[in-house]
Amino acid sequence: MIVKLARYVGEFKKYALLTPVFVCLECVFEVLIPYLMSHIIDRGVSVGNSGYTLRMGLLLIGLAVLSIAAGVTAARFSTNAASGFARNIRAAMFHKVQEYSFANIDKFSTSSIITRMTTDVNNIMQAFVMSLRIATRAPLMMIVAMVFAFSVNAKLALIYLCAVPVLGAAIFIIFRTAFPMFERVFKAYDGLNEVVQENLAGIRVVKSYVKEDHEREKFGKASELIYRLFMKAERLMSFNMPIMQLVMYTCQILICWFGAKFIISGTMSTGQLTSIVAYAGMILAGLMMLGMVMVVISIAQASGARAIELLEEESAIQDPEDPVMEVADGSIVFEHVNFSYSGDETKNVLTDVNLRIPSGYTVGILGGTGSSKSTLVQMIPRLYDVGSGRVLVGGVDVRDYDLTVLRDAVAMVLQKNELFSGTVSENLRWGNENATDEELREACRLAQADEFVSAMPEGYDTVITRGGTNVSGGQKQRLCIARALVKRPKILILDDSTSAVDTATEAAIRAGFREYIPETTKLIIAQRISSVQDCDMIVVIDEGHINGVGTHDELMATNAIYREVYYSQQKGGEQ
Ligand SMILES: Nc1ncnc2c1ncn2[C@@H]1O[C@H](COP(=O)(O)OP(=O)(O)OP(=O)(O)O)[C@@H](O)[C@H]1O
Ligand SMILES: [Mg+2]
Repeated sequence: MIVKLARYVGEFKKYALLTPVFVCLECVFEVLIPYLMSHIIDRGVSVGNSGYTLRMGLLLIGLAVLSIAAGVTAARFSTNAASGFARNIRAAMFHKVQEYSFANIDKFSTSSIITRMTTDVNNIMQAFVMSLRIATRAPLMMIVAMVFAFSVNAKLALIYLCAVPVLGAAIFIIFRTAFPMFERVFKAYDGLNEVVQENLAGIRVVKSYVKEDHEREKFGKASELIYRLFMKAERLMSFNMPIMQLVMYTCQILICWFGAKFIISGTMSTGQLTSIVAYAGMILAGLMMLGMVMVVISIAQASGARAIELLEEESAIQDPEDPVMEVADGSIVFEHVNFSYSGDETKNVLTDVNLRIPSGYTVGILGGTGSSKSTLVQMIPRLYDVGSGRVLVGGVDVRDYDLTVLRDAVAMVLQKNELFSGTVSENLRWGNENATDEELREACRLAQADEFVSAMPEGYDTVITRGGTNVSGGQKQRLCIARALVKRPKILILDDSTSAVDTATEAAIRAGFREYIPETTKLIIAQRISSVQDCDMIVVIDEGHINGVGTHDELMATNAIYREVYYSQQKGGEQ
């Protein structure tokens, strides 16, 4: 895991490598201080040598300044390295997510991706800073302090040595038990983010159904879970400190006890005892820091695993080795296509679909909700790949095309379409960056959007707010159609894209298509018979099967489902 993540240190490697160097320097200076102290006491103060005391005192101040300088430099370098490291991981994650196919996005929920890119990366960054500084400093400090303590008085120092294995074992046990707990904590974070995200995205629905209490309760549950899990993990971690302190203070008491005896018996000087006690403090501080690092690292380990999972996810849709770079025409063929979202063949949502659509046709697709209409058309621009069988566009398997080439040729207005913050023109240019203003206008005229856009206070420069909340549902649908038209696609797919548009406007849009883009193959998914009645070909889908194909008149004569839908809409007055 460390190797995998270390890659992202990248250009900040020099800071990462320099930090331990400065930390070492800081330690050396710091450890020398008690050593000098013992000399000052024994050779200066005790014997009244004020010249020696003064010289050594100045040296002591010098060392202290150097130690501070080294410490500050180390802190700066480590923060630099860690922030850069976090930036790189985040960028890599974001790039990766952009490569994801729909299937990958289904696998990780949006909220989980967000938690991974924020909370998890933060945890990794924290652990990285700590490892750079404290994880170098603490053991080094302990070892050096131990060496000095031994050189001062080996017998007394032996007491520390006995304490180390006891502490090591305690830390190890705590660490091992806490890790799985933190793993669960982060899963719970995903849950919490999901609740918040869903709530905020649908806040208008929540309010109109007066579901605030229900939402509060849902949030409360998710947040309570995190509280409990964290409490459990932290409770365990809280044993860390008392155990260390118990061991270390016991050591100190023993040292003072034996030290006092040694001094009385004349085998040790006061200065020596002072320095040994100071070293005891250093070892204690080192251990405490180590304990803290352990907590942070065990949290980061869970986070690191989650970050790597996201980074190593292979996009389910890849470009082929030797891609076809041109789409010949807008013909579409489905050959024995089967598909299931889970990859489990027994749960197919498309079963043995066979369909031939000549280029330039206008095709209506009709079927009940959940009959797999959207699924069917998503196979064409490879938003999902078929389970078995194949889909041909312009006579070539869609999997053989360069993905950009294919998607440029196939414009799809998704059922759940989105506008982005920015002006109307900017949104339309998603279809084609180089489109002229006249082309944008033309597309809007075709999509019956020109009229209302021109009536807006700033016309095509009107700013669309985030999520497109300042346009109506029908206006948004028309802008999305215009955006697709700007692409000048060979195939245009409208997935229920005129559901919020009145029938007259819808008819005008269809008439425009027939007149201005006759070569483009048009696939229109609709609920209303009137939307598809005059198509060259109508496909009736039922539970993932093709139930019938033909013109309106043919289907009226032969297809029971079609007839039934027709009459029910007639009666309902929907015509
Ligand atoms: N991303 C997904 N993951 C898993 N299952 C899905 C996904 N999208 C759709 N399904 C399932 O696949 C089936 C077909 O859904 P699809 O969206 O294609 O229907 P539809 O005909 O477009 O319906 P509607 O008219 O309501 O838009 C449904 O049973 C649905 O539950
Ligand atoms: Mg649909």
